[in-house]
Amino acid sequence: MIKEDPSILCWDFLFLGAIILPDMEKFPQDFLWGAATAAHQVEGQNIYNDWWQAEAAHLIKEPSCASCKHYDLYAEDFAIAQQLNHNCHRFSIEWSRVEPEEGKFQALEIEHYRKIIADLKNRGIEPVVTLHHFTNPVWFSQKGGWAKLKTQKYFLRFVDKIVTEFAGQVKFWVTINEPLVYSSHSFFLGNWPPQERSLFKTVKVTLNLAQAHIQAYRVIHKIYRKKGLAEPMVSIAANLQAFEICQPTLKNKFAVFLRNKFYNFYFIDKIARKKTLDYIGVNYYSRNLVDVQNWSINNLAAQTCQHNHHPLSKNSLGWDIYPEGLYKLLIGLKRYNLPILITENGICTEDDGLRWDYIRQHLAAVHRAINQGVRVIGYIYWSLLDNFEWDKGFTPRFGLVHVDYQNYKRTIRPSAQKLAMVFKSNEI
Ligand code: GAL
Repeated sequence: MIKEDPSILCWDFLFLGAIILPDMEKFPQDFLWGAATAAHQVEGQNIYNDWWQAEAAHLIKEPSCASCKHYDLYAEDFAIAQQLNHNCHRFSIEWSRVEPEEGKFQALEIEHYRKIIADLKNRGIEPVVTLHHFTNPVWFSQKGGWAKLKTQKYFLRFVDKIVTEFAGQVKFWVTINEPLVYSSHSFFLGNWPPQERSLFKTVKVTLNLAQAHIQAYRVIHKIYRKKGLAEPMVSIAANLQAFEICQPTLKNKFAVFLRNKFYNFYFIDKIARKKTLDYIGVNYYSRNLVDVQNWSINNLAAQTCQHNHHPLSKNSLGWDIYPEGLYKLLIGLKRYNLPILITENGICTEDDGLRWDYIRQHLAAVHRAINQGVRVIGYIYWSLLDNFEWDKGFTPRFGLVHVDYQNYKRTIRPSAQKLAMVFKSNEI
């Protein structure tokens, strides 16, 4: 009888493995892996902001009420994040809690956020702190909010206060979340407070937000310098969409060019010129399939394909799932020569298998971009929890963790467990 040489057997297995198993792709060392939330979407009872006021006036589909009770349950939620191998967490500090009345800062609320940051750090989770995530104190709105240039000083005072308190504990700051999404919903589409519909104001607010970021960036860096701390990492979270032509017409190509220029890169270019970006925060969700019928400005700015040409799978809000778009945008961002942090990427769906496909495909896209020399330093999924999705209410479910709004029970979804394995191994 001929005995099989065990070493030959072993080589056979390795060879087979190489054929059957896909290549595992490593992410860079010290890659940030985590999930995001925003105060008004998860905390509950944010009674001093303009959203709460609009909800009370029945201007929003449903009120946020207690939301996920994250204000009380944050330690439980961060324990879940820790269990899921998250090493970073993005959240926002609610300005209206900290300063419910003009100039009256609430020591107790500042202590609350101090505890949040300490809890994260004790669990080995790096905080990424957002200073403005769509909501404003009511008193600020009453003074004219972001439509008035002179009101910026109030935001800067809040930034100064918060950063002075937490500079020693926080390295990553996001000054303003999705400035163009805020200005367009609140001042152009009119479906977010203060429910205005004015192109003039939209432009004004966008410019004011750019100024506010530039000033806030300088304030933050000044505080770190004064305290003798290492330089912080400060950015915005930019909402980037993949603008794609439906049919290769001149109108469509021109519309894609315009939309990229104004919606994707205008704000980034403006603040990058002032050297007020230490990294680029990227929020990416979907594709915008451009199909323009005529040369009118409305068509060029917003018209999309209505005929389901080039159909793709969609999330529960009907947004196309298009990971290739993230890859292309990341390649496009290479020209800024800055590190990139994916500050949001996620899907709302009732189908958790689809959630995992979405995540896996987007991570593969990020990895391909890294292989092409794009300096991505982390990936933050939106969101840790199901939450209050602004004018869409509680129906869309974006969470890695399911929230039962009757009893606030958290249930970890299978996709979150799979993602936890990626976070642990640092590879896909
Ligand atoms: C972003 C926003 C988040 C969340 C997410 C999902 O635009 O920053 O707050 O709502 O979209 O739609």
